[in-house]
Amino acid sequence: MSDWVKFYDFKPSVIYVNARHRDVHYRKIAEDIRAYVPSPTAHVLDYGCGEATSADLVANACAQLVLVEAAPNVRASLTMRYGGHPKIAVIAAEQAAALPKASLDLVVMHSVAQYLTTAELDRLLAMFHSLLKPNGFFILGDIVPPHFAAPAAALSLLRFGAANGFFWAAACGLVRIFASDYLRLKKTAGLSHYTEAAMLERLRKVGLKAERARRNIGHNQRRMTFLCRAP
Ligand SMILES: C[S@@+](CC[C@H](N)C(=O)[O-])C[C@H]1O[C@@H](n2cnc3c(N)ncnc32)[C@H](O)[C@@H]1O
Repeated sequence: MSDWVKFYDFKPSVIYVNARHRDVHYRKIAEDIRAYVPSPTAHVLDYGCGEATSADLVANACAQLVLVEAAPNVRASLTMRYGGHPKIAVIAAEQAAALPKASLDLVVMHSVAQYLTTAELDRLLAMFHSLLKPNGFFILGDIVPPHFAAPAAALSLLRFGAANGFFWAAACGLVRIFASDYLRLKKTAGLSHYTEAAMLERLRKVGLKAERARRNIGHNQRRMTFLCRAP
């Protein structure tokens, strides 16, 4: 398990300043992903879905939703939440590679690429390509650009908090994040940043047709979402 997966397995509450933050965060992500579901018969995979507390919104708009989560405790809570849901399956990261080739209409990976090395990212991009049906859609969200990422993320969280009734909790949460393992891990495990041009080049190299979306999924509009199609 990578250090970042361990961090997300045991410390999700550091990132989400309170339960309201977590729930409005995941609702916004689910609403944004739902808008990309191509049809009610679509088979959809969300890689690195995290706690995904609003995944049923996406599931209601498609035929099947596969939630992939590497962190075992997070996966256990997803299984408890969605175990009885007829359209949602919860699997581990290594099980994703064993899914049938060319079986998915939409793959989403949001706010995960920054925790991967470039080699890990390239491996996953190739895997997603192989899982997509011809003309299937891949959405890569929350790509962090190289400059001013931390101040932009802090400002975006404060704005999101102000708009959703948890401004002061967000301000206190920032202090907590500052004092947490996040900054230590940022130094030791590293965070990957990409310019728009560098990410477009990576996506094209694995054979995906890619363009940057007008808006990022979620609330941080300094980060980037890429819309990709398998040929
Ligand atoms: C910020 S959360 C994103 C959760 C959700 N997609 C969202 O947008 O809110 C980061 C996720 O990346 C996953 N992750 C981090 N490193 C990973 C790795 N090496 N392989 C697979 N997943 C990883 C974590 O388990 C966690 O669920």
